[in-house]
Amino acid sequence: MTAKAKRLHVITWGCQMNVYDSARMQDVLAPLGYAPAATPEDADMVILNTCHIRDKAAEKVFSELGRLRALKQARAAAGGRMILAVAGCVAQAEGAEILARAPYVDVVLGPQTYHRLPELVARASRAAGAVIDTDFPAEDKFDHLPAPAAPQGPTAFLTVQEGCDKFCAFCVVPYTRGAEQSRRLAAVLAEARALAAAGVREITLLGQNVNAWHGAPGGLGRLLRDLAGIPGLARLRYTTSHPGDMDDGLIDAHREVPQLMPFLHLPVQSGSDRVLAAMNRRHTVADYRRLVDRLRAARPDLALSSDFIVGHPGESAADFRATCDLVRAVGFAQAFSFRYSPRPGTPAAAAPGQVAEAEKEARLAELQALLRDQQTAFNAACVGRETEVLFTAPGRHPGQMVGRSPWLQPVHVTGPATLTGRIARVRIAAALPNSLSATLLSEEHLAA
Ligand code: SAH
Ligand code: SF4
Ligand code: F3S
Repeated sequence: MTAKAKRLHVITWGCQMNVYDSARMQDVLAPLGYAPAATPEDADMVILNTCHIRDKAAEKVFSELGRLRALKQARAAAGGRMILAVAGCVAQAEGAEILARAPYVDVVLGPQTYHRLPELVARASRAAGAVIDTDFPAEDKFDHLPAPAAPQGPTAFLTVQEGCDKFCAFCVVPYTRGAEQSRRLAAVLAEARALAAAGVREITLLGQNVNAWHGAPGGLGRLLRDLAGIPGLARLRYTTSHPGDMDDGLIDAHREVPQLMPFLHLPVQSGSDRVLAAMNRRHTVADYRRLVDRLRAARPDLALSSDFIVGHPGESAADFRATCDLVRAVGFAQAFSFRYSPRPGTPAAAAPGQVAEAEKEARLAELQALLRDQQTAFNAACVGRETEVLFTAPGRHPGQMVGRSPWLQPVHVTGPATLTGRIARVRIAAALPNSLSATLLSEEHLAA
């Protein structure tokens, strides 16, 4: 007799690493017979993979749990069973609260224990109460994970580093993801080779502090060089980096590794040295500007992206103006900006000089207008240029294909579906606020 097929639905919030983790959780559960379900209504197990970075994150989880509780009760009334699991950073930070407020949850697990999911699910199936595992285990979860399932398309994420030792005053990540850990070089290369063999053309290396990867001598610069030698891999990216960990080898890689795309997410958070110090960022505005100059000298077409926080405790109007000045001086192709959100247990939450919400709101609106103008200008400057696009999927309209430029802009062309997974030369015809449209020139099979 074969076991009844079971279905799994995963809801993912947060950063790209959570996207990667959600895929790996599906890989771990596949041998237990769990196939993907399109909706929670179709699922025997639902996992919420959560994010704790800003406020309302936990509230979102509880409201989703309320909805799922009704589904679980309906299933039980019909004689069935639905397993409900909460994973990710809210689970790590607020595991006990989740069990207290939502006792119908079956499994709570942190980001470092999802290789134990089969055992946790088995225990939850036997037990009446909930099972919780928010350890930071000594074993490396990657050693206990099955090989990833076939990739979904020509681009893929690959986690190489996890956790963070920086302890920026505002941030929960060092608490939810734990200490910095690097995956070993051989394991990363093996996963990358498997992805390339399955048709992946572009890999984005992931880490909370990815440029602190130390899985082999030579650091991330060396890893990128090794990856560039894998046949078929035409494009490499990495995110997210701390300015303090950009070493010479990595900067040189931007000069010497053509597969490394000319777009870098390098968060600066603030343009005021006073605020950077209060944030415990361990770099100054001048450090950041020097670094940008060196990167641009190495790769003149490099475009930059950043994260910004406005209204961090102690940020004055003059500090905020300094952030706007830095934005104008550097010029960003794209950026994320957030209003400071106090996180329980972080030093900044208890710091003096909390900024009023209305003031944060006003500063955020001003900064976002400035960043939007820069993004629009960057896109507009691409019009008329020839560049290469990696096509990933059909567009919304018939006959349309979508891909990404080297600078990560979505690009639309009229072209055949056979373009998927190919890199083709295009001429940019028009710029929209968040994407470009282009005409196809010749198709180019780049030797990787
Ligand atoms: N490891 C990355 C990303 C951390 S989280 C890095 O070091 O840059 C992504 C972004 O969320 C951060 O860069 C920061 O801008 C923002 N963020 C983190 N904590 C925050 C908080 N308490 N309030 C508002 N934004 C926050
Ligand atoms: Fe958070 Fe700072 Fe670490 Fe980034 S470097 S994850 S912002 S503590
Ligand atoms: Fe969120 Fe955790 Fe990522 S808090 S941003 S899911 S590391």
